[in-house]
Amino acid sequence: MARILTGVQSTGRPHMGNILGAIIPAIELANNPVNDSFLFIADLHSLTQIKNPKQLKENTLQVAATWLACGLNPEKTTFYRQSDVPQCTELSWYLNCFFPYQRLKLAHSFKDKSDRLEDVNSGLFAYPMLMASDILLYDADYVPVGKDQLQHLEMTRDVASRINHKYGEVFIIPEAKLQKDAQLIPGTDGEKMSKSRENTIDVFENEKSIKKIINKNIITDNSPLEASKDPNNSTVFHLYNLIVSSEKSSKMAENLKAGGYGWGHAKKELIEELVKSFASQREKFNHYINHPQEVEDVLQKGALKAKKVADATLNRIRESLGYNS
Ligand code: TYM
Repeated sequence: MARILTGVQSTGRPHMGNILGAIIPAIELANNPVNDSFLFIADLHSLTQIKNPKQLKENTLQVAATWLACGLNPEKTTFYRQSDVPQCTELSWYLNCFFPYQRLKLAHSFKDKSDRLEDVNSGLFAYPMLMASDILLYDADYVPVGKDQLQHLEMTRDVASRINHKYGEVFIIPEAKLQKDAQLIPGTDGEKMSKSRENTIDVFENEKSIKKIINKNIITDNSPLEASKDPNNSTVFHLYNLIVSSEKSSKMAENLKAGGYGWGHAKKELIEELVKSFASQREKFNHYINHPQEVEDVLQKGALKAKKVADATLNRIRESLGYNS
């Protein structure tokens, strides 16, 4: 039995990139009876950006509701909030003491965020060691993530190997699990979909809002209706292709190439599919948002299960390093 673990930050409502790139693939792995799974809300990571208690809580509910709406089964999966398991912050201190400052300086995500965010705090810099701690604390074998997290996984493996080299087999060395044909889901501007780039698509919105986002934010070239268009250079087609059958996708590609089919037609089909294919998740999401106590109960139960495992690993690590267990 392999142990699967992954998390999503609570910096806002998960977007289509998070859902297709990580949440749905992780749930598929978690629902497979041969796997044992830990899925969580990375709300401590969010403090690097969110300093508003009400918003932090609200975001946690939104992320939890997304996991549940997308099919996470809390009876089979240990589903919890990172901040409910403080063992994680203790381990992250230990890891920080073993990881070279110069290597942490090379983290792409830090460079990327520090160029764009106003609040560049030390937590943002140490972020990869908190993530390593999330993974190593639960002896995870596989970590399903999007491509943008691969460097963090390499750092996790690196710090675990450094400690194992010095102290014996303290940690299991985890592996990243990328989806087949792994790709980063593009946002409305064609760049990686990301909250901090403000190019996200919220699949839980109603039809009117989805329509507005797609029509207003996805920029297309101004080739005339009759012109042949290149589907491979188009964000509209790329997004459509991710959510429809191969027949439907080939049909749109043919239409675009043939001409007489405009970007307005393609956008209309994309909007219809977004509304339709996430209909059941949207309904469940709204249910959980309107029943926060139901979500809280699930998270409390998950925290108890997670803490039990975390305590056992942390004691093993404390003992190896020379602290009382
Ligand atoms: P976060 O919250 O930014 O993203 C959550 C997951 O969504 C994936 N993702 C994408 N996949 C495809 N296309 C996109 N445009 C896209 N945007 C995001 C991410 O790769 C990720 O898998 N540091 C993590 C959260 C975390 C974590 C962990 C993950 C904390 N501890 C331990 C795994 C294991 C993060 O910020 O992800």
